[in-house]
Amino acid sequence: MKTEDSAIVLIGFMGAGKSSVGRTLARMTGYLRFDTDEMVAGRFGLTVGEIFEKHGEDTFREGETEALRELTGKEGAVIVTGGGIVLRAENVALLKALGTIVYLSADEEALFQRISRRPTRPLLQTPDPRATLAELLSARLPLYRDCADVEVDTSRLTHDEVARRILESVEP
Ligand code: S3P
Repeated sequence: MKTEDSAIVLIGFMGAGKSSVGRTLARMTGYLRFDTDEMVAGRFGLTVGEIFEKHGEDTFREGETEALRELTGKEGAVIVTGGGIVLRAENVALLKALGTIVYLSADEEALFQRISRRPTRPLLQTPDPRATLAELLSARLPLYRDCADVEVDTSRLTHDEVARRILESVEP
């Protein structure tokens, strides 16, 4: 594990609870919270969905990499990432340099239930979002696992429980 001052970085699929757990962790630790989706959206003055629609996925992905570069060197921070952050090898190197990488996993059913409550994700605007989810998840699972220092299965835990488990595993 890394030093106590380095960042806690949350990765995982859409619906894994990264944003909510990130807020909970920031509250529990007093760390500053940064969210790459929010950073990219802020730079464009658009929602993530609008960036995909107007500029395309590649532009969004470039914005994610740029956000990670800006975060380099942050200490005592909680860093929340978008579900596709692990797709670029360059991002994985940047993530590893930031601190301890926590993969929030969840079973497919739990992810689908959570994602269905807020149908804003551009990648799941397909005729069969459940099948799309399954395809994306199986392609990404090895990427999340390769990148992570710690994995927490969030399927049946509250945000507070997940945050406590993370703190137990990252505390020196
Ligand atoms: C994406 C996940 C989203 C957002 C964008 C792309 C992905 O973030 O970055 O819609 O490729 O999995 P969340 O994981 O916070 O939903």
